[in-house]
Parts: sequence; C-alpha cells; structure tokens
Amino acid sequence: MSPQLILLGAPGSGKGTQAKRLVDNHGYTHVSTGDLLRSEIKKGSDLGNKVQSIMDSGNLVDDHTVLELLNANCSLSENQYIFDGYPRNFEQAKALDSDVLKGSTSKAVYFDIDLEILIARIVNRRVAPGSGEIYNLLTKPPRKPGFCDVSGEELVHRKDDNEDTVRNRMEVFKDNIDPVLEYYESADRLIRVDASLSSDEVYTQLLKII
Ligand code: AP5
Repeated sequence: MSPQLILLGAPGSGKGTQAKRLVDNHGYTHVSTGDLLRSEIKKGSDLGNKVQSIMDSGNLVDDHTVLELLNANCSLSENQYIFDGYPRNFEQAKALDSDVLKGSTSKAVYFDIDLEILIARIVNRRVAPGSGEIYNLLTKPPRKPGFCDVSGEELVHRKDDNEDTVRNRMEVFKDNIDPVLEYYESADRLIRVDASLSSDEVYTQLLKII
C-alpha cells in the first residue's frame, strides 16, 4: 500500500483543491478536519456549537477535540487517506503518529507559497459542500455565477473567508508551522511542493510524489 498522505500548508495554499483531484483520480479518501468541524456546526451538535466562534475567529480548536473527531472518522485499515488540515501544530503531529497512524507509513507534503498572495485566493473562494468542488471567482469561476458546475447546488462563501479572519488564520499558521515541518524533516518524511504554480502544475508535482 502507498503511504498515507499528510498535506501541510497555509490557509488557501491549495490543499483541498489537490486533495479533491487525488481522490477523484487515485482513489484516496479525503479527511479534512476543517470539513468535519464545519459539518458539526451545520448539524447544530454540541461540538459544533462549542467550536463555531473559535472557527469564525480563525483560531485553532483545542487539540483533544480535533483528535477525537479525526479518530471517529478514520478507518486506517480500510482506506488510503489524505489528511488535510491536520496536523496544525507540533502536538498534533505527534498525536497523528501515535494515535491515528500507529505505524502506518506516511509522507508529509508541504504546500510552500508566499503568504501574501493567499489573501486574494481565499476571499475569492466559493465552495460546493455537496460535490466538494472548489471555485475561485478570479481564476476558476463557475460557468453559472453562484452555482456549482457539477451538482448545480448553490455555492457557499465560508464565514471565515473574510479578510480580517484570514489575516488571523495566517498568523496562527505562522506561529505553529515551523516545529511541524522540523518534525517531519528530521524523520526524512517531508516533501515540499511549489504551491505558487497553477493547479495543474502543483498536481503534476504531487503525482511524482505518490
Ligand atoms: P480548514 O478548513 O482546514 O481551512 P485552512 O487550513 O485554513 O485551509 P483552506 O481550506 O482555507 O485552504 P486550502 O489549502 O484547502 O485551499 P483551497 O484548495 O480551498 O480550517 C478552518 C478552521 O477549522 C481553522 O481556522 C480552525 O479554526 C479549524 N481547524 C481545522 N483543522 C484544525 C486542526 N487540525 N486543529 C485545530 N483547529 C482546526 O484553495 C483556496 C482557493 O485558491 C480556492 O479558491 C482555489 O480555487 C484557489 N486555488 C487553489 N489552488 C490554486 C492554484 N494553484 N492557483 C491559483 N488558485 C488556486
């Protein structure tokens, strides 16, 4: 079995976009902690109510909550996963190995990109929660404005995709990412891709990795 893939990168660096392509074309199962948390908010569960304001502000949900949610939604023996949005800090990187992967081989891929160009990417993002398609009003607009090309559903502008919250998400990312990269680099498990390139070019880099 190929290694499990761990996608690391700043908000808007393209993790979700590439995960969707790898799932569609290579049979991976995508697990995004951001999607799992948003789904709890949508259901109105206790967990969703607890995390809503944290996510709206762009801060991180506590490690214990996210790990429990991840474990409840992973069945490693049956699937080859792409982990998207987890780990976010050093503690989560260790927990992914000890509590989730438990010896299963994995590679971490860092979506390397200058953070300044990401604000425009994110505020112009629109998503289709049903089909999982991700659009960008500037670079990848839907054919019919406001609706998904694949499912026809109405597109959503994420609540945390406004400029103020995005700036805080970037700060949180900068504060936490270095120890995560060092953790994987020291174990020779880190591969960097140039995420400033077009979506097709980033995908080509990923195909070489898998
Ligand atoms: P989460 O949902 O994980 O958001 P994120 O990490 O901030 O990542 P994004 O979804 O914003 O970006 P992406 O890299 O997937 O970019 P995308 O492909 O969509 O987390 C949200 C919140 O949940 C967090 O703030 C936190 O509160 C909480 N949370 C989640 N996980 C947690 C954890 N582990 N611990 C604690 N809290 C957690 O692309 C972005 C845009 O760019 C799109 O419009 C796309 O079309 C466009 N685009 C993509 N690639 C390219 C390209 N190559 N060229 C040009 N445009 C491109």
